Amino acid sequence: MQELFVEGGKRLCGELTIQGSKNGVLPILAATIVCAGECRLGNCPRLRDVDASIAILRHLGCCTRWEGDTLIVDTTHMDGTEVPDALMSEMRSSVIFLGAILARQGEAVLSYPGGCELGPRPIDMHLSALRALGAEIAERSGTLRCQAKVLTAAELVLPLPSVGATENAILAACGADGTTVIYNAAREPEIGELQDFLNAMGAQVRGAGSSIVTVSGKRPLHGGTHRVVADRIVAATYLCAAAGCGGDVRITGVDYRQLATVTGALAEAGCAVESEECAVHLRSEGRLRSIRPVRTAPYPGFPTDAQPALMAALLRAAGSTVFVENIFENRYRHAGELARLGADVRIAGRVAVVSGVDALHGASVRCTDLRGGAALVLAGLQAEGTTRVSLLAHIDRGYVSIERDLTLLGAQIERKEQP
Ligand code: UD1
Repeated sequence: MQELFVEGGKRLCGELTIQGSKNGVLPILAATIVCAGECRLGNCPRLRDVDASIAILRHLGCCTRWEGDTLIVDTTHMDGTEVPDALMSEMRSSVIFLGAILARQGEAVLSYPGGCELGPRPIDMHLSALRALGAEIAERSGTLRCQAKVLTAAELVLPLPSVGATENAILAACGADGTTVIYNAAREPEIGELQDFLNAMGAQVRGAGSSIVTVSGKRPLHGGTHRVVADRIVAATYLCAAAGCGGDVRITGVDYRQLATVTGALAEAGCAVESEECAVHLRSEGRLRSIRPVRTAPYPGFPTDAQPALMAALLRAAGSTVFVENIFENRYRHAGELARLGADVRIAGRVAVVSGVDALHGASVRCTDLRGGAALVLAGLQAEGTTRVSLLAHIDRGYVSIERDLTLLGAQIERKEQP
């Protein structure tokens, strides 16, 4: 078992280039199978969730190999249609393979992705979109059997702007006859990245970033090349780390516009933030002040994935800050662990109230989920003494090396193998 040992009390200073985006690359890995050819993905982060996607691709008959930080996926000889339960359960977002396998093979068999640490994660919108495109889907004993000899373009209206359902619909629509229109599509930057990659393969996807996305299907596709963009949530995590600890950091490789709600909140809390085209520079005295209520919302609103990190930054702020979590039901599980460090976080349903305390103290804590786990590390960086963070598999799903990145900024944090 591995644990992180975090020595608190250091200011964070320096410059850091942000890794490639997890949520950007996962749908792109699924998208590689919509074509039969070789795809090259540069700046691909080596993460547990990427490994899980690679395992699925290989099971389906694709070849993969790394050249430095470029992942090469050759989908020419893909012949599989099934993803076994063991591979599906490695990663909740593996459901994104459904639309892609269907577009390529006309049938797909996947197990149902279960609930997860953030609460129930239904896929009803994914399935409705695929059915509207002509797929017949039977659900039995946790297995989804999808068939569509022919997929036909349709007008899809999503009840909510779900990121995953939008991606699944786009991928399936690439294999449908005619032009599909997706209304109330998610507007997250990752949809734009998927559009760019698909278009580089010869697809015709338009409108990503707006609520209406159109896909002209059945175009001849070929392999494509793409450079994975920087991870806006990892960037937000390290900005929040420096805000809470105090320091002077420059985060590079990022699109500052994608971070506007997070940097806006940190500026309100008292940080000096300067945005450049591909970088964000943040200075903090360490002692922040409370801010107006933070309500998570679909992009361009405040990202639910950045909520735990911002909460961690405000644990020692003067005054109380209210958080309202509007995306996932169960996204405050890290609060109980933060309390072990002396934090004052009260939860009532979707609302959390963070009242700043004078000091946090080191303790042993367990990661509850990916972003909540990162928040525990951020709290440990502000605490007096040593914080031991366990169940690191959660953090490793989304951060290539949180300890390396934070050490580069001057933190004292070490990963140790524990018996
Ligand atoms: C993606 C991100 C995740 C982020 C989330 C919201 C990836 C791999 N994951 O997850 O990090 O936190 O967007 O920005 O990109 N819903 C339904 N039915 C469905 C689908 C979703 O009710 O069929 C609900 C969900 O329960 C949730 C809301 O819609 O309450 C938004 O979920 P969604 O945007 O789909 O999130 P993911 O794509 O799973």
